[in-house]
Amino acid sequence: MTTTDETKRTTLMRGRLLSFHRAPQSLADSGSYLYEEDGALLIDNGRISAIGDYASVKAQALGEVTEIDHRPHLILPGFIDCHMHFPQMQVIASYAANLLEWLNTYTFPEECRFVESAHAARIATHFYDELLRHGTTTAAAYCSVHKTSADAFFGEALKRGMCMVGGKVMMDRHAPQGLLDTPETGYDETRAVIAEWHGKGRNHVAITPRFAITSTPEQMRAAQTLAREFPDLHIQTHLSENDEEIRFTCELFPEAKDYTDIYARYDLLRDKSLMGHAIHLSEREADVMAQTRAVAVHCPTSNLFLGSGLFPMKTLMAREKPVRVATATDIGGGSSYSMLRTMDEAYKIQQLLGERLNPLDSFYAMTRGNAEALSLEADIGTLDIGTTADLVVLDAASTPAMKLRMETVTSLSEELFLLQTMGDDRAVVETYVAGTAMKP
Ligand code: GUN
Ligand code: ZN
Repeated sequence: MTTTDETKRTTLMRGRLLSFHRAPQSLADSGSYLYEEDGALLIDNGRISAIGDYASVKAQALGEVTEIDHRPHLILPGFIDCHMHFPQMQVIASYAANLLEWLNTYTFPEECRFVESAHAARIATHFYDELLRHGTTTAAAYCSVHKTSADAFFGEALKRGMCMVGGKVMMDRHAPQGLLDTPETGYDETRAVIAEWHGKGRNHVAITPRFAITSTPEQMRAAQTLAREFPDLHIQTHLSENDEEIRFTCELFPEAKDYTDIYARYDLLRDKSLMGHAIHLSEREADVMAQTRAVAVHCPTSNLFLGSGLFPMKTLMAREKPVRVATATDIGGGSSYSMLRTMDEAYKIQQLLGERLNPLDSFYAMTRGNAEALSLEADIGTLDIGTTADLVVLDAASTPAMKLRMETVTSLSEELFLLQTMGDDRAVVETYVAGTAMKP
């Protein structure tokens, strides 16, 4: 065997496969996904090289192959979380009346600690452990204002081989001194983070003005300059989350037509723009979101926890000019790292709005849907040949109560709905990053 052969790793992974081709149109839309009852994946050097029924994939497996049998569990693309805050792990479960009180009382003081690189490095370890424990293999995250936090965030992702989107937050007003940059340092440090980390491993740097309240018009112009200089980068910010926030924001930018127009004026809306929350949009704002192809990122556990409002997900998606929608935990405004728990809360919000979110919708959203929202579907979010083998293995009978309920389940969609309704990290049997088992 040559040295090259020795480094080539081939894995044959057996289990029940589920992967989406496109968004399902209804619960009966079996053409929207691939489901293989006795399926297998061939994984070569971290990438999927074959998929199908076990017998035919096994026949393609030549040479030395490690076989992993996950039957009777489901194998899916790893979950994707489109909005979370890396420095807010110790903010979860903070008791506040609303968004602005929660930010000022708990969140801003906590983020100040990330000026210390040792603290940032420690939390980064926990951060990726929690993602992987919950089956999440990719996330779009905010770091703190400090470059040290971005260094810790991307350094740990690189170590683990994970595909991550993240950014140093830009914020130069309405926060404690320890959490402020300036238009110039925000610009320079963002450029430094891009130079150091973008494209290194599977890291993607996002231009990250926190929200219009914490950026002066001068800093918004600096973000605009970055957006023009780096047209292929993601942009992430917050939009229209809470009534008081919306009122204050519009006072700060009186020339803008509305909250969305502030970002439009600074060229921050485009197809890789991730607009956190976007709960209370007017028809005009939804039109602008649709035209620019910016993504509204729904964070259900956060919206309920902070009392921010009920996101009209189905209505926005069903418009004549549809708004692109993604889903996310919004840790630490959100209350769970689990995308299963997140979709359960998304389902309940749609119930309150008189809409239905079926289990195919949810599982599409957590995988291919969120990959498309990040424009990363060529690498993640499906089990397609050529994509990276970022996978989650799920057990719908992982607790005694789930096992009992599973006795009466007779279809895939019922099983998915049970996983979404009762599942959490205990349902995650294993999480693979580029073909390597990583669940802590
Ligand atoms: N708006 C501005 N910053 C934040 C944040 O950290 N969390 C949430 N939920 N909303 C925000
Ligand atoms: Zn957020």
